[in-house]
Amino acid sequence: MSKASSLLSPIKLGAVNLKNRVVMAPLTRNRAGEGNVPQDLNVEYYQQRASAGLIITEASQISPEGVGYPATPGIHSSEQIEGWRKITQAVHDKGGKIFIQLWFCGRISHPSMLPDNQTPVSASAIKPTGEAITYEGMQEYVEPHALDVDEIKVIVDQYRVAASNAKAAGFDGVEVHAANGYLLDQFLRDGSNQRTDNYGGSVENRSRFLMQALDAVYETWDPAQVGVRVSPENGFNDMKDSDPQNTFNEVAERLSSHGLAYLHVLEGDMLGEVKKVDYGQIKNCFNGNYMANCGYTQQRAELAVSNNDADVVAFGLLYIANPDLVERFSTGAELNTPDKATFYGGDSHGYTDYGFMEREEAIA
Ligand code: PHB
Repeated sequence: MSKASSLLSPIKLGAVNLKNRVVMAPLTRNRAGEGNVPQDLNVEYYQQRASAGLIITEASQISPEGVGYPATPGIHSSEQIEGWRKITQAVHDKGGKIFIQLWFCGRISHPSMLPDNQTPVSASAIKPTGEAITYEGMQEYVEPHALDVDEIKVIVDQYRVAASNAKAAGFDGVEVHAANGYLLDQFLRDGSNQRTDNYGGSVENRSRFLMQALDAVYETWDPAQVGVRVSPENGFNDMKDSDPQNTFNEVAERLSSHGLAYLHVLEGDMLGEVKKVDYGQIKNCFNGNYMANCGYTQQRAELAVSNNDADVVAFGLLYIANPDLVERFSTGAELNTPDKATFYGGDSHGYTDYGFMEREEAIA
C-alpha cells in the first residue's frame, strides 16, 4: 500500500486501546455446547481472529428468558462464565481485545425455547411475521406478551447481573445489543412499540428501557468500556419505524453524554433494501467513536476512516471466512469466500477450518 493505512492505525476506543480499526462484528454461529455454554471449538474460533483490533462476540443471552435460537451462548450461568473465561484468555494471549454482546431476543423467540414454555415478551403485543428457528424446526412466531413496568425492571436487573458476569469472565468491555429487531430495538422502533405509558410514544420514552439497561451495566463497567449497537432501518425480524432518521438522531444525541466506548451502527438493511437514512447525521449527533458496519469492503472502510465518516469499521461476512483478515488487508492478499451453508450450526467445518494465508504470502 503506497499511503499509510488509516484502517490499520491504532485507536483508543473509550478506555480500550486497539491495535487497529478492524473490528470483528458480532456473528451468531449457533455452535455453543450443552446448556448454551461456550466450548473448546469456540475458543479456537475466537483465538484465530485475535489480530482484529476488537472482537465483538456473537450475541449472548443475559438470561434463560432472553433465548431465541438454538445453541447460542449465554452469560448467566457459572458454566457459561467459565466457558467464556477460556475464550477471553485465549484472545488476550494473542494480544487481542474482546467485548461480549449482551442479548435478549424478546418476541423473536418461541415458547418451546423458553423456561416453562412461557410466551415471548415485547414492547407491545404485536406478532412479527415469520418463523422462529427452534429445536423442533421452524415454527410460526406467536403474539408476544407486552411487558409491564415491573417485568421491565426484572430484565434491567438481568442486564446488571450479565454485565457483572462478563467482568468475571475477563472481557474488555460489553456491547449492548439494541439492534436487529431484538427486545431493546422492539422498544426503540414504533412499528413494534405502540405503548401509551412512559416507555412508548416519544423517542425519549422509547429509549427509556435502553437507558435503564445501560445504567444497570454501568454498575460494573465504566461507560468508556461499553458500546451500543443500533440498526435504524434494518427490516430484518419484521422491523420498521415511521421516522428512522429522527428516531436514531435523537438516540445518538441522548447517548452522547454517557461517554461510551462507541456507537455501533448497522447501516442500511441486512435484507439489501436501499439506504434512506443519512448516517452522517447520526454520526454527527453522537459525541464519541462511530463504528460503521454492513457490507464494507477494505476499500470502502479505508475511505470511511480516512474521510472521518467512521472511527472504526466492523466486518461480519469477511470475518467468517478470513481469520487473518487484518494480515490479508495489510498485504493485499486475496480473501477466502464464505460458505453460507455452514454459517449457522454444525461443527468445525466452515467455522475453524478457513485457511490462513501462506507464510510466504504474508511476508511478500
Ligand atoms: C441471526 O441469528 O441471524 C442474527 C442474530 C443476531 C443479530 C442478527 C442476526 O443481531
